Amino acid sequence: MSVEQPTTPLRVRSVGSSLERVDAVAKVTGRARYAVEHGEPAGVRDPLHLWLVQSTVARGAVTAVDAAAALAHPGVVAVIDHTNAPRLADTDNAELAILQDPTVHFRGQIVALVLAETPESAREGAALVELSYDVEDHEAELREDTATHRPDAVNPNQETDTDEGDVDAALAAAPVVVAHTYRTAMEHNNPLEPHATLAWWEETDGRVLLSMFDSTQGVHGVAQTLAPMLGLETDQVRVQAPYVGGGFGSKGEAHAHVMAAALAARTTEGRPVKLAVTRQQMFALTGYRTETISHFRLGAAEDGRLSAIEHRVQEQTSAVREFAEQTASPTRMMYAADNRRTSHRLAVLDVAVPSWMRAPGEMPGMFAHEVAMDELAQACGLDPIELRLRNEPDVDPETGRPFDNRRLAECLRRGADRFGWSSRPAEAGARTDGDWWVGTGVAASTYPAAKIPGNAARVRSLGDGRYAVAIGSVDIGTGARTVLTQIAADALEVGAEDIDLAIADTRLPPASVAGGSSGTSSWGSAIVAAAQRFRADHGDHPDPGVETTASAAQDPAAEQFAFHSFGAVFAETRVHRWTGEIRVPRLYGCYSVGRVINPTTGLSQFRGGLVMGLSAALFEESWRDPRFGHVVTQDLATYHIASHADVLDVDAEWLEESDEIFTPMGSRGIGEIGIVGTAAAVANAAFHATGVRVRSTPITADRFLGAG
Ligand code: MOS
Repeated sequence: MSVEQPTTPLRVRSVGSSLERVDAVAKVTGRARYAVEHGEPAGVRDPLHLWLVQSTVARGAVTAVDAAAALAHPGVVAVIDHTNAPRLADTDNAELAILQDPTVHFRGQIVALVLAETPESAREGAALVELSYDVEDHEAELREDTATHRPDAVNPNQETDTDEGDVDAALAAAPVVVAHTYRTAMEHNNPLEPHATLAWWEETDGRVLLSMFDSTQGVHGVAQTLAPMLGLETDQVRVQAPYVGGGFGSKGEAHAHVMAAALAARTTEGRPVKLAVTRQQMFALTGYRTETISHFRLGAAEDGRLSAIEHRVQEQTSAVREFAEQTASPTRMMYAADNRRTSHRLAVLDVAVPSWMRAPGEMPGMFAHEVAMDELAQACGLDPIELRLRNEPDVDPETGRPFDNRRLAECLRRGADRFGWSSRPAEAGARTDGDWWVGTGVAASTYPAAKIPGNAARVRSLGDGRYAVAIGSVDIGTGARTVLTQIAADALEVGAEDIDLAIADTRLPPASVAGGSSGTSSWGSAIVAAAQRFRADHGDHPDPGVETTASAAQDPAAEQFAFHSFGAVFAETRVHRWTGEIRVPRLYGCYSVGRVINPTTGLSQFRGGLVMGLSAALFEESWRDPRFGHVVTQDLATYHIASHADVLDVDAEWLEESDEIFTPMGSRGIGEIGIVGTAAAVANAAFHATGVRVRSTPITADRFLGAG
């Protein structure tokens, strides 16, 4: 039983300190088990291994499956395809409804499964399955002239279009207009641990139970997605994810491979099935960031004050399932202007389903917006920081509500001070160091603060001042296990060592996904609620075994405000005069995010976001071959990410503050803001170095050849 409990602000002792990661030793000694590593101690006996067979055509239908050679291969136990796969009770989620019919929606789709005694024989068997297809024409390229439609909503559930005032009239009257098209590349998430699922079915007392270890950002979400499709109640699917090696959004929702493991395991009479998705398969199956095309128009007075902001977005989705990235959403709240218009249009392609990748929407949208602002500063002859200060809104332009804590101006000023902005020459191309042009650039950053309802936590007395605290949330490597221990310790007014925290299991109280920078706010608020309710019910000296489960009641005052975090990112960029090589020797962000719960793990989130933004700025680009419909850069040799040699001086700071209107911990969420604006800061610095304006990512060396 769970009750709703109003919370009071936490008296912080452990929160705010750099408690060492509570799972550090388990991780560095290899005792921490990731999804496919579970064995006998976790009830996994005698597993079979699963290999995915993927479509080699982009659109059409499977006409025949010849499994004879595969089945004759040593070790192969079964080949499962649309003719013999278990039937699903619900196929509305067409991405996950695999092997139910012969239709092929995209190249790389799962069209058969091979089960074998070893991973090697499963893989060899998969290569021996012969498929025939009826092939249809496909479309796999996003161009400015690709036909688009207007989606009903954009992720997660926002308005598709907004229109206030008269943008066209304001632009016609504006003395200064910046109108350009910006593009961001398709990117693939590439967490360190590839996607993986271990599944087995049992029957006890006539009731079936599907158990899984899945590399996921949210165990409850996986169970809620799979259960109805499999004709089960949610509590008939148990999902655990004790350790997860990153996700960046690609493990935020179950993708088709999770269903593949569940379906295959249904056929093995209880033998567990292990599926380790390969790095190459991740480029076809497990989500990616859509490429975006942003048509921007800014109208301003000569002093830089904006009168009109227009952001029209073209992006792509998939025929099999719609995902609409919210690329223009930050444009709706970032700067003041009386006339404002945003829109999103989607091209439906015969490709895999795009999904979440760290700051979906904000990351590509703010690349466009913040490069456009740099262009406006240049057009007005203004310092780019001064331009932003002149366009600070009094209230949230989107909702009309006051911001509960908007400190962008302080982030810009303090960041400028720390970075050494004042020595910057006003002109582009003014500074060289040998054969290198040297420039600096700035961009603003923002991310909405979100708390997801429905979270609950359980507190149980263990006696002697120790407590078991439980919530089904997942630590994907962020440090959630550590910061939730700190929050629980402060909420119960004991030391962190007195907390025995259990997470990442659907048998524990419900927790929302580790996504949208909402995890710590959502789960932490539930833990504080449960602890405060526990103390109210059981006092300071509870009997061992007494327990309370509670969720945080929504504070009605919260309805009055707009909650967003802010930051300012500064980059120094060097571009080689003869080769165009681009380097980023310094990258620095200053953030306002509420209270940082653990400065060590927090700094890792900011640095990681900055590095990922640097990587997007300079390297990351998935190349889809429109003739065949698949991503050809499907490994880390051809899909480039920033490596150690590319990551030089990357640092972050934050303003000391506590946002107790938003959460009892005073925190707002930090997972995504570090990537927002970062690519724009690098592009703006590259312009300042060279005078060459790059309006798309990645910013490659060829853009600068012949410059100067
Ligand atoms: Mo994050 S892309 O919301 O997992």
